[in-house]
Amino acid sequence: MDTGRITALSDVPGDSTVCFRVADESDEIREAILVRNEGVATDGGDTTAAVEDAVSCWLNYCQHLTHIKLDKGSGAPMRDGELICANHGAYFEADSGRCTFGPCEGAYLTDLEVTVEDGDVYLTDDDYAFVGLGPVETDDCDRASSSNVEF
Ligand code: FES
Repeated sequence: MDTGRITALSDVPGDSTVCFRVADESDEIREAILVRNEGVATDGGDTTAAVEDAVSCWLNYCQHLTHIKLDKGSGAPMRDGELICANHGAYFEADSGRCTFGPCEGAYLTDLEVTVEDGDVYLTDDDYAFVGLGPVETDDCDRASSSNVEF
């Protein structure tokens, strides 16, 4: 673990996600994603607030089947500011984490606290520690269950 710097804000794309690893309170390694909040950073011209609101952070697991990852290693698909679960098509608002459509409609993604400072994004959540960029490499169970067969 290091200082908690995840990545540069400029490296968080507008149409996908950045996946990274965190350790939870019981030292279990989980995946989380950073996502840009399109259109949020426009309130009243307060630059600090605007930058702070520029990115959200969620655990990288769908709320329908909670072992299924939204970002399967190359960025989660997005459309119109919403994250899409490729398995059964659930949509989640990037900035609130709320599922707006799909089998888990009304559920919320689990949020992690992040802070933007001097153009970098830091993990500042008391319950999670930053481990490193990229997905958990040994976890291949998701690949076996990524078909769209059951709806
Ligand atoms: S696992 Fe995400 S919608 Fe079913």
